[in-house]
Amino acid sequence: MTEHTYVGAVDQGTTGTRFIVFDHGGQVVANAYEKHEQIYPEPGWVEHDPMEIWENTKRVITQALGQAGVAPDQLEAIGVTNQRETTLLWDADSGRPVHNAIVWQDRRTTDRVEQLEEDELVGTIREKTGLEADAYFSATKAEWLLDNADPIKLERSRPDDIRDRAERGDVLFGTIDTWLIYNLTGNHITEVTNASRTMLYNIHDLEWDDDLLEEFSVPREMLPEVRPSSDEDTYGMTDPEGFLEAEVPVAGALGDQQAALFGQTCFDAGDAKNTYGTGSFFLMNTGNEAVESDHGLLTTIGFQRSGEDVQYALEGSIFITGAAIEWLEDMSLIDNPSQTAELARSVDTTDGVYVVPAFTGLGAPHWDQRARGTIVGMTRGTRKEHVIRATLESIAFQTRDVAEAMEADSGIEMTSLKVDGGAVKNNFLCQLQSDIIDSEIVRPVVDETTALGSAYAAGLAVGYWDDVDSLRDNWQIDREFEPQMGRETADKRYDRWSDAVERSLNWATEE
Ligand code: G3P
Repeated sequence: MTEHTYVGAVDQGTTGTRFIVFDHGGQVVANAYEKHEQIYPEPGWVEHDPMEIWENTKRVITQALGQAGVAPDQLEAIGVTNQRETTLLWDADSGRPVHNAIVWQDRRTTDRVEQLEEDELVGTIREKTGLEADAYFSATKAEWLLDNADPIKLERSRPDDIRDRAERGDVLFGTIDTWLIYNLTGNHITEVTNASRTMLYNIHDLEWDDDLLEEFSVPREMLPEVRPSSDEDTYGMTDPEGFLEAEVPVAGALGDQQAALFGQTCFDAGDAKNTYGTGSFFLMNTGNEAVESDHGLLTTIGFQRSGEDVQYALEGSIFITGAAIEWLEDMSLIDNPSQTAELARSVDTTDGVYVVPAFTGLGAPHWDQRARGTIVGMTRGTRKEHVIRATLESIAFQTRDVAEAMEADSGIEMTSLKVDGGAVKNNFLCQLQSDIIDSEIVRPVVDETTALGSAYAAGLAVGYWDDVDSLRDNWQIDREFEPQMGRETADKRYDRWSDAVERSLNWATEE
């Protein structure tokens, strides 16, 4: 049965949308990708057009299937994985968004979060949701949309505002998984790892939290049903009359970082991975225990399979890593990211330059919404190669910040770390990472681990794969990197990095 059938995965990320067709061995059969527009209406604001994302999703699915000559009915299931926290509201009648989606990086609700600090709600939020109160998560974005989305845009003939309509369930809330599942199946559903990033979901009771809904004035009627990440009941079927012209079960979904954890087969407590995308997200599976962090990490849901308990994870969320390389490109310091390794290698050190790419504040373990990008240590002799090298080093240093927090919280000394994401193709970065954190770095053959994780979740649900052991058998090492830099040198540089971070903190005061 599995010889001529496949599982597909939609990977809807911050910068673009991908559809990958996987075979039973977990190998990529076809892969299509499209970027979407990044909309910056004001400094610190970031939006996406949800309709563009849905149009791109349909297009990449069609393209990938065409590429591989796979008919839609050869797909046994579809999985969804997505940029997390990004929030949108849409009209239940027309299916049209009432506003652009507010992206996870958006800082427009910083003042509102500071109000939460003044109201001493930060502890309660951490206790219930495992999250650090921050504009990063969906709650304050949903509140902003309910207060500010323009009802005129919704439908001219209806005088009542968005909140009234939301209270009747006529306007719906969703993160990007919800939006895609809704468009693929017609059902208003989210899954548990995505719910755990909203700051509205109690990760212990596994329910939307009444106190938090009240605090952020979010009507329960507009919220989706929360389902397991791998769901034997499935979220629904694609419409045979729709663009795919076939009935395929949509049976798995995970936030992209949790999907990478699943795709890296980190099924057991203590298993960890770091993904290098727009940002970097370091997750460690902590099993059935929601471990509370004392060192600035998040407690979050790792995954849940039908009929099983949830698995929790500790997470170090770093907002800007791959996006710092994009910034080098925007500044015309490089023509494309593949040049960075060679240019960085052309100088022995950064000559004392440190780049802290805190463009959207700093996440774990610092949690400073008002931190901003900082370059220190430049002299008249500083060349672009030093800045490029310092930018790559910032990726490795930020990872060390969260790796140290992870070791302190879990009590587990890290000797090996699985990595994935676009930037790990860069051998220079992998070696540097190994040096800076003094740990082996392991890169798998299939580096599309995020898509693979959601394909696994969907495929397990429909019985395409029997159990997690068969997934572990699929996982193969491409290359390992061992630490080479002297400890003393690495530690000295890390200390200077920490000084540079201090200088970036609390920069964006009101002007
Ligand atoms: O929490 C944000 C994260 O899910 C974004 O991931 O891969 O789109 O940068 P990515």
